[in-house]
Amino acid sequence: MEIVASVANASKEYKTGDTIITALQPTTCDFKKNELTLIIGPSGSGKTTLLSLLGCVIFPTTGQVTICGQSTQGLSQRQLAQVRLKNIGFVFQGFNLLAPLNALENVMQPLLLLGIPRKEAKERAKEALKKVTMQDRMSNLPKMLSGGQKQRVAIARALVTNPSLMLCDEPTAALDIKSVAIVMEELKMLSTTSKSVAVVTHDLRLKQFADRIIYVNNGAVSNEPKEEEFIH
Ligand SMILES: Nc1ncnc2c1ncn2[C@@H]1O[C@H](COP(=O)(O)OP(=O)(O)OP(=O)(O)O)[C@@H](O)[C@H]1O
Ligand SMILES: [Mg+2]
Repeated sequence: MEIVASVANASKEYKTGDTIITALQPTTCDFKKNELTLIIGPSGSGKTTLLSLLGCVIFPTTGQVTICGQSTQGLSQRQLAQVRLKNIGFVFQGFNLLAPLNALENVMQPLLLLGIPRKEAKERAKEALKKVTMQDRMSNLPKMLSGGQKQRVAIARALVTNPSLMLCDEPTAALDIKSVAIVMEELKMLSTTSKSVAVVTHDLRLKQFADRIIYVNNGAVSNEPKEEEFIH
């Protein structure tokens, strides 16, 4: 199986005043095509940090991040943003939709940033919204949409550039079980189209959708859950 993204001994430390927080200990793992990986762990364990490293949102303190064969080491912030735009779709914890833009305009944004003409961007954004069955709500502002609908618009925005790597931070938080199934079926389907999909969650109901699960505890990544989690 082809590797889409990998971290090799990648760690992240944050300095606040004179204390250092290790958000992620040195971590090595691969994310492959046609695979949906679930990243499970308690609050503050380092899940968003791992996703942000993979998503080229932050640089690692130590180690390497490689996206579609390209190492991010030594890149400028601008170059890193280009790697992100070309290869990665990111669904952020809390959606990050732009409030003054309607659903269609939100989904068009990454295409416009890539320099794609407005007309083509509009067509592709409509297609993406269709994929998540939001074509009837294209002209709605985010504030007119429910949590689950906002979530689907955020997924459409992430997939509109046809990225190799889809990263989703808590995509089902605050959704009922039916909406969870809709969102996860969509992500699962995407993972079968030569993409690698990684989903961060607290929600153990999502286990059934995963090809692989990795566990994060106290900044340490493992393929095995901590003992108390075996009860679930
Ligand atoms: N920008 C930052 N500056 C300082 N500390 C940070 C920063 N971002 C994250 N941290 C710290 O790193 C640790 C891991 O944070 P992270 O956001 O990765 O956790 P998480 O597993 O995503 O938690 P949650 O489930 O609550 O979203 C936490 O202790 C957090 O306080
Ligand atoms: Mg988080």
